[in-house]
Amino acid sequence: MNCEFKLPAEILFGCKERRKLAEKLPPGNVLIIAGSHSKQRVENELIPDLGKREFRLIANAHPEPRLSDVQFAISVGREITAASVIGYGGGSAIDIAKTAAALMHLDGTVADYFYGRKKIPGKGSFFAALPTTAGTGAEITPNAVLSDPETGSKQSIRHETMFADVALIDPELTFDCPVNVSAGSGFDALTQAIESFISQKANPASDALALSAAKNIFSELSAAVHDSMNSARIAVAKGSMLGAMAFAQSGLGAVHGIGHPLGSLLHVPHGVCCAILLPTILRWNLPDCRTKMTELANTLSCETPEELIVKIETLRENICLPSNFRAFGLRVEHFAFIVENCRSGSMKSNPRDLTDPEITAILEELM
Ligand SMILES: [Fe+2]
Repeated sequence: MNCEFKLPAEILFGCKERRKLAEKLPPGNVLIIAGSHSKQRVENELIPDLGKREFRLIANAHPEPRLSDVQFAISVGREITAASVIGYGGGSAIDIAKTAAALMHLDGTVADYFYGRKKIPGKGSFFAALPTTAGTGAEITPNAVLSDPETGSKQSIRHETMFADVALIDPELTFDCPVNVSAGSGFDALTQAIESFISQKANPASDALALSAAKNIFSELSAAVHDSMNSARIAVAKGSMLGAMAFAQSGLGAVHGIGHPLGSLLHVPHGVCCAILLPTILRWNLPDCRTKMTELANTLSCETPEELIVKIETLRENICLPSNFRAFGLRVEHFAFIVENCRSGSMKSNPRDLTDPEITAILEELM
């Protein structure tokens, strides 16, 4: 068995672990990128811990980060010669911080790296990640998903040196997460665990993590959303972390491949996109991954993959996520853009090689 395993340098998981952040930072100035929801907590808890360090706080990360958000963060980081960058929030705050840390000391613009005109030569500034949603896995992965509104392009900047120097996953940060965000990010986490498990690049180590992730999320997501039960939210945060550790090795699949251009074009939140696409794509994939899907189904207390897919649809309905793209205005004229822009790394690790007409058929099912 050949198996390569790469993760952030240090991962801390557990309630109150966020309070260890300041002691983990190297000497020097600090750039903090936070979601607007996290601004007050950063001001009350983190900034006093920074002592005499100079810092700047940018606390208005867009839900889907744009190149201009990263460019602004880079300019602020350069202005204070930041030694470290902290991403404190959902996936977008973390992805902006991750990219700013990687590019801040390099020539050129973020667009140069996004479009491949320049290559990242090596490690950037110290980068710490604190997720406040349980789902995206951005604190674990070495890539950042960005979009360029001018071209409609949504893709990753990726480099093996973009792993966090420290990821502090404190489930308490998810306790006051709005219900709709918990539902969407939780479904993203479930999708990531499942796509990792059936990925063509899965290995025994990623499989063990992905199965455990799927079990935690599948059994606890409904309680985490509806009852705001802290024990359920801790389980979903744990599942999200394990799933991200898995897919950082194995890659994802067609839900993420198709979801990125579709979400970017129609402004569908990423977790909602995953929830709509997942059951349909699992049915398409099933002939090419029945053994793995049966193992997954049995782990999640289902007899067959078909039963599991129905239960995933029931969970989706139960946490009030939609089952099609009707409300987002998906039309036949959008198909060409989605088909043309979905051939990312995620599509290459999908268990079934989907042709362009098959992708069109999937989209037709979901109109
Ligand atoms: Fe995702």
